[in-house]
Amino acid sequence: MSAEKRILLVSACALVDTDGRVLISQRPEGKPLAGLWEFPGGKVEPGETPEETLIRELHEELGIDTKVACLAPLTFASHSYEHFHLLMPLFVCRRFSGVPTPREGQALKWVKPNRLREFPMPPADEPLIPFLIDLL
Ligand code: C5P
Repeated sequence: MSAEKRILLVSACALVDTDGRVLISQRPEGKPLAGLWEFPGGKVEPGETPEETLIRELHEELGIDTKVACLAPLTFASHSYEHFHLLMPLFVCRRFSGVPTPREGQALKWVKPNRLREFPMPPADEPLIPFLIDLL
């Protein structure tokens, strides 16, 4: 691993519905890793906690609202990409208001955890699947 490789902190969320399904979002054309399915979230901006990032991103990307108390940390991904090392805490959220709606042209799907492997994901996200299968 390169000594200069920086750490990128991204916060991700497994939204869970009352049937125990998890929401995944397809990265739109024009973004790195376009077409792959991921857990919603985004980069932690300076001054934000990972929970604050999710509250902001879930509102911006999906039009839903939640609170810090509704975000339970589950595990984190740690993956080396070519130009950075990604550190990505995964939170689980079962309580939110509103109906997730694609606000950035992305496709959305509610999927049972044991079917998540049918959807190609970025290499950082894939190792998170067993944690969701165990939990749900
Ligand atoms: O979403 P965004 O493009 O800001 O994320 C920055 C980088 O983090 C992506 O290019 C991708 O390499 C990585 N990422 C990931 N899995 C996610 C979100 C981001 O591997 N769920």
